[in-house]
Amino acid sequence: MKKGRILSGMRPTGPLHLGHYVGALQNWAALQDDYECHYMVADWHALMSEYADTTRIEQWSREMVADWIACGLDPERSVIFVQSHVPEHAELHLVLSCVTPLGWLERCPTYKEQKNEIKGKDLETYAFLGYPTLQAADILLYLGDVVPVGEDQLPHLELTREIARRFNTLFAPVFPEPQGKLTRTPRLLGLDRRKMSKSYGNFIALADDAETVAKKTMTMITDPKRIRFADPGHPEECNVCAYYDVFAPEQSAEVHDKCRNAKWGCTDCKRNLAAALNRVLDPIRKRRQELAGDAGRIDEILKAGSEKARARAVETMKKVREALKF
Ligand code: TRP
Ligand code: SF4
Repeated sequence: MKKGRILSGMRPTGPLHLGHYVGALQNWAALQDDYECHYMVADWHALMSEYADTTRIEQWSREMVADWIACGLDPERSVIFVQSHVPEHAELHLVLSCVTPLGWLERCPTYKEQKNEIKGKDLETYAFLGYPTLQAADILLYLGDVVPVGEDQLPHLELTREIARRFNTLFAPVFPEPQGKLTRTPRLLGLDRRKMSKSYGNFIALADDAETVAKKTMTMITDPKRIRFADPGHPEECNVCAYYDVFAPEQSAEVHDKCRNAKWGCTDCKRNLAAALNRVLDPIRKRRQELAGDAGRIDEILKAGSEKARARAVETMKKVREALKF
């Protein structure tokens, strides 16, 4: 017996990196046994920010799904699909937008943040303001009760619950009030200690080859107080050490000791980390390669997934139309 229904998604706007792996994908994969999982490529959400140039959205979508499967998402156990292949998302979005007060959207903190953060794109659009309403439609269409997301998405879940409540009171109790499920992993910083971000290019991608991983690891910023080999380091302040804690916790104690007591240099420490990262990434790269060798496999997965998703979406829309007396 499954514990509930899950829906989550990602926008196909670029390569996935280690942050996605520890912040979402490991969690998504682990939930597959206990929940009915739906994992969605949010291409319409990508359109909201990438509308000026849509040429790469499809390619990114495929790459993203390849990464998902390489990280352990299983198309036999989870419904893996593309938002725009299930037009009911747009239909429910329209209905929900009728009961979503403008003030809720204007007050949403992510709206203001994103507009400031995403430079060089005109996000003063009708759709972008409604971003959380489409996200609510995504979740509610599958009557999702659990949504594994990062902390940054919590305001959207709060809005989803408010919209669900509003619909249920106005019409009929169709929707559950979904709860967020946060991953316990601390947020991983980028190689330069800034927030890991596509626009900073400060990340290790899941698809990077071993040599690239090694090169990028060597660029990581270390404890600035440790200048010479003999200087004792401060591992708790060093981003390299934070990566050990996440990707090679069995080595953490030893790394702390060698750093604090100046038993090895930062170059040794980083070279050794690169090897550990490659041990984590090797099986992922291998599965990704197998997939790449099987032309058409991703399309098949997405076709089957979208059919399954659509069957569920159609059921929900029946209830929605009944509730509306349409
Ligand atoms: N807004 C999410 C993000 O940027 C992506 C997303 C779209 C999503 N629809 C969703 C996440 C539904 C969870 C549930 O990461
Ligand atoms: Fe960081 Fe390792 Fe250098 Fe210590 S030895 S400062 S943990 S890179």
